[in-house]
Amino acid sequence: MSKVHREHWGSSFGFVMAAAGSAIGLGNVWKFPYITGMNGGGAFVLIYLLCAITIGVPVMLAEMSLGRAAQSDVVGSFARFAKNHSVVPKFFAGYGIGLATMLFFQDQIGLGTVIALLSLVILRFGWIAAGYSAALIALLILSYYAMIGGWFGVYIWKALSGQLAFANAQEAAQTFQNMAANGWLTSSMTILFLAVCASVCWFGVRGGVEKASKILMPLLFILMVIMAVRSLMLEGAGAGVEFFLAPDFSKLTTHGVLEAMGHSFFTLSLGMGIAVTYGSYLPRNKNILSSAVVICVLDTSIALLAGLAIFPAVFAAGMSPGAGPGLLFNILPVTFQTIFGSWSPLWNGMFFLLMLIAAITSGISLVEVGVSTCMNQWKISRKKAVLLCLVFVSAFSLLSSVSNVSWENLSGLEAVVVYAFGSARSSFFDLLDYVASSWVLPLNGLAVAIYVGWIWGAGKAVRELYRQGQDVKMRAFSRTEKWKALLLRRVPMRTWVFFILFMTPILVLITFLFTTGFFS
Ligand code: PHE
Repeated sequence: MSKVHREHWGSSFGFVMAAAGSAIGLGNVWKFPYITGMNGGGAFVLIYLLCAITIGVPVMLAEMSLGRAAQSDVVGSFARFAKNHSVVPKFFAGYGIGLATMLFFQDQIGLGTVIALLSLVILRFGWIAAGYSAALIALLILSYYAMIGGWFGVYIWKALSGQLAFANAQEAAQTFQNMAANGWLTSSMTILFLAVCASVCWFGVRGGVEKASKILMPLLFILMVIMAVRSLMLEGAGAGVEFFLAPDFSKLTTHGVLEAMGHSFFTLSLGMGIAVTYGSYLPRNKNILSSAVVICVLDTSIALLAGLAIFPAVFAAGMSPGAGPGLLFNILPVTFQTIFGSWSPLWNGMFFLLMLIAAITSGISLVEVGVSTCMNQWKISRKKAVLLCLVFVSAFSLLSSVSNVSWENLSGLEAVVVYAFGSARSSFFDLLDYVASSWVLPLNGLAVAIYVGWIWGAGKAVRELYRQGQDVKMRAFSRTEKWKALLLRRVPMRTWVFFILFMTPILVLITFLFTTGFFS
């Protein structure tokens, strides 16, 4: 039943490193520390962990078991078990058409048209539409993720050549602005970054993705530990640790809780077919449950370590932490300059190298989703598929490269978007990020949960998850065996089924309504 010549991982370690490489990215290093600090520190970490356990791990398990059972790309996986199951897609399509009609009457032409078109696609393709949507959004996300990756490349060069010795954050901000506004530099670095990721995929699952991850991820971990330890040794580090981790439940708002939910989704790279694709390269004899748990633990540890590397240093330098790109590109260089003086090129270089590694391993996973889909769906060779994805994403990335701070270079497109939707966010980059992370990812996540839980069937998925757990027998004889079976098999199994059928879809739906502004 499985397809001929499906590539497979060489080892569980390789698989875990590749999947952790995808999960560990910008979200861990700047988003998590920052939102933690703002939302009550340790209190937020607790909520985040709860979300990772109730949403993140169940959806990851669903995606991986689906991929492994189907032994196919994300589109093929959604096609595999969907026969005669078109009620749910039809319901959504019908709902969408109704909604679109209502929007037309309210003169919301742009949104109405988009929803109507999507509904028709869902009506035509059924569940497979979810597969296409995952593969496409992976490539679109890559088009701007690569831009940030390219900037890290520029900053490594700047760091090592001593150009990051800023006196204050304003000076640093100016340098960043100049780089971001330089369309030529930004787009060439973006394409270089894409080429690096694509060249890894060129060499296949084992020879490319797995090999690169097995080298890069341990390196990233070592760099992170060095930076965190050094940061914690600084005088005045305590204030940073306090900002980051001291639990303050009074700062925890509904908004914060929902933000934690959305973040658990993004940081584990769910909803874009990555876990499906990587899961499909798993041989039948590997235990998925333990790998997924290890991946989530690694992802969370890196996020915590990142906070411990960043905040103690920022506070020790007497700076205040900022948000988003500002924290990375402006505040940290000044922080390292203040603390390490003539050693700062080294620390800056190390930090941006770490960021670059995190971005590359995430980028690779995004390319791989597209490559595996093109290979399977169009029956073309891996090399052709890599080139095709590279060209497509590069072309698309130019739009973000020339419009990352404002719409200045794409005012025509901005006018169209404003005409159709009423507003257009601050730049093309911002718009794409918003559409992807607020709309498409949660909807895809919901689709995976319903598809695996209700269409393919939670029972079958459980069997796939435990396919090779034969060491833990259900009919156990000795007392220890009985306990082992209960703890390692029955309890997690029942919990997962309950979550994937009921809890997770509801929580994902709430996240979706929140991120799209329904609650505000
Ligand atoms: N999981 C990554 C992070 O935490 C983000 C990411 C999103 C990676 C999409 C790949 C694809 O930063």
